[in-house]
Amino acid sequence: MNDRPTTSTAGLVVVANRLPVDQVRGDDGSAFWQRSPGGLVTALEPVMHSNHGAWVGWHGAADQSLDPFVDAGLTLVPVPLSTADIESYYEGFANATLWPLYHDVVAPPAFHRHWWDSYVTVNQRFADAAAGVAEPGAVVWVQDYQLQLVPAMLRAQRPDLRIGFFLHIPFPPTELFQQLPWRRQILEGLLGADLIGFQLPGAAANFVRLVRQRVGHKTHRDAVYLPDGRTVTVRSFPISIDASGLEELARRPQTEARARQIRSDLGNPRHLLLGVDRLDYTKGMPQRLRAFGELLSDGRVDLDEAAFVQVATPSRERVEQYRVLRDDIERLVGRINGAVGRIGQPPITYLHTSYSRDEMAALYRAADVMVVTPLRDGMNLVAKEYVACRYTDDGALVLSEFAGAADELRQAYLVNPYDINGLKAALLAALQASPRELSRRMRAMRRQVAEHDIGHWASLFLGELHKARPAHGKTTRPV
Ligand code: ADP
Ligand code: F6P
Repeated sequence: MNDRPTTSTAGLVVVANRLPVDQVRGDDGSAFWQRSPGGLVTALEPVMHSNHGAWVGWHGAADQSLDPFVDAGLTLVPVPLSTADIESYYEGFANATLWPLYHDVVAPPAFHRHWWDSYVTVNQRFADAAAGVAEPGAVVWVQDYQLQLVPAMLRAQRPDLRIGFFLHIPFPPTELFQQLPWRRQILEGLLGADLIGFQLPGAAANFVRLVRQRVGHKTHRDAVYLPDGRTVTVRSFPISIDASGLEELARRPQTEARARQIRSDLGNPRHLLLGVDRLDYTKGMPQRLRAFGELLSDGRVDLDEAAFVQVATPSRERVEQYRVLRDDIERLVGRINGAVGRIGQPPITYLHTSYSRDEMAALYRAADVMVVTPLRDGMNLVAKEYVACRYTDDGALVLSEFAGAADELRQAYLVNPYDINGLKAALLAALQASPRELSRRMRAMRRQVAEHDIGHWASLFLGELHKARPAHGKTTRPV
């Protein structure tokens, strides 16, 4: 990575909890940069590289302040987090309060007042950093649940800015959101933006309803009217991927060769099933592994014909629920492999690691059935990545109804991941489908992903933001 220090300002600024790269330390103590985990970085990196803007975010290391620097035309502005901030703001309020609350309380959220205080302090730090790097009249695009107070904090300092906010994860039903002791502050924090984007229309509608009920502002459809005369627009913008870039990678001869190698290393099974996720309790990994294990033990799938590869990126490893999940998954994989495997033939290959984009593309090319079964997910880019890589119009996608992607990928084998029998039936249907049926489904999904890629998403959002707050800076109430 080429990193030149800089003090310049930018016309487009992204503010996200993480920078696109994390600083990590090797065993010998030397520092190096690696790509940050998660769908947010996958989606925004291509947008920001083509816009030459600035990206404000944490660099992944504790107790370390770094100067802004330029990497490949993009200005990176590191925001420092202390060990205490990481515990209370990141692992605490963001990932043990908001994350489970916004994902349908699939794990119980914890509410602690000192976590909230830390969330406020750290959000202010991000807002200050963004105010420092945005040129007059700039567009500032704040991202995700970790930074919901930043829009209002930024507007208080810099009313000249156009401010957009996008939530990458689900926004909960109003009954669940009301549990949050700081619900009003979160709503008011978000209303600092000119445009608030959600993945799905239902989430946008939930937000508008809450603003009407809890804050008492007038609303009409996707507009919220504030007492100071501003209008905030609230819409859905389903996020996507760099579909053509990924397809180009998938088509490379070296990717195809690596895909063949992966299959051969697994004994060239007739059916290769694949799961790829951050190791997160929202992703429904136990459900899919249990369904596959039962199909083998029922004798409905033959061990000589099928193998399952589950790749899990390490994630939020100091949060208790994530530690418990890791142990649970390892135990479950061991139990299934022990019960139905043979010497040299474990049915599940479990890899607790992160891979390069090249290796991910090869895995997608190698897999006959992609199994994506979150209990709740804002979008799920893995599902779209698999589709983008299947340029041969083959392969099957088994997809949870509770992933945002299910709204667009209607030709997937849609499942309720809580229903293990239903999940088994969907896996069997995908394994037994004719090439013609698979091709019909895949062609339709590929068209959807190609026509609604990340460039389309970014230009829709940014175009709407320019309309929501025109250059003269005033927003007007429609008659
Ligand atoms: P989330 O944002 O919750 O992690 P998404 O499915 O939307 O979920 O995005 C995950 C992103 O992380 C995708 O771009 C996917 O390719 C990438 N990813 C997931 N697992 C791995 C892994 N083991 N190694 C490398 N990248 C991964
Ligand atoms: O939206 C999904 C998301 O939570 C992003 O905000 C985040 O960057 C990514 O997943 C990975 O999570 P973390 O930054 O906690 O490792």
